Amino acid sequence: MDSGKTKIDLSSSYRLLHPMHVVLVSCAGKNGKPNIITLAWAMPTSINPPLVAVSIAPKRYSHTLIDGTKEFVINIPVMKILKEVLFGGRVSGRDYDKFKEVDLTPLPAKNVKPPIIKECAAILECNLHSQFTTGDHTVFVGEIVEAYADKEAFTRKYNLEKARMIFHLGGNNFVTLKPEVFTLKL
Ligand SMILES: Cc1cc2nc3c(=O)[nH]c(=O)nc-3n(C[C@H](O)[C@H](O)[C@H](O)COP(=O)(O)O)c2cc1C
Repeated sequence: MDSGKTKIDLSSSYRLLHPMHVVLVSCAGKNGKPNIITLAWAMPTSINPPLVAVSIAPKRYSHTLIDGTKEFVINIPVMKILKEVLFGGRVSGRDYDKFKEVDLTPLPAKNVKPPIIKECAAILECNLHSQFTTGDHTVFVGEIVEAYADKEAFTRKYNLEKARMIFHLGGNNFVTLKPEVFTLKL
């Protein structure tokens, strides 16, 4: 029996998994010069030890930086910096100093060399735990060594009225969550 569903080209089938939570990863060169990359492909992979994976194409400048220094920071952006998030995902740190080009403030991290981004609601500082190639991307697995968040944005869970997080639908299209929380008891 025909499912009635539309066939999706395999090269864009990943979009069936979107909207994906957008993160800004900050990383740095061996000379300390920082860079930012916008990513939609990020996920937790282990609670103990606390591990998180990001998937980055080898041609990205940030790939070279993380490969070289083995450290990165996952910053959780909010809607008020959406333009900066798109910029971070459309130009390369090979050509631009992204911290200078956009209005984002680098601050020292607690435990790694790349800076954190002040305007983001939450921060996960990571040491590179492992990495492996998956097709045309590399999955970098980070061990979280420090995590902190804006008080008004997060207490055990996000306050979605305060932290209007960004989700990537595809292309230049983004959504945020309408704060409707369902707490279930089973
Ligand atoms: C919303 C959004 C999500 C993105 N997600 C990813 C991703 O998950 N992995 C990736 O390799 N590139 C992703 N990109 C593309 C990179 O952010 C983009 O190529 C960036 O310019 C690379 O910067 P760099 O060369 O300074 O590292 C995304 C771009 C946008 C706008």
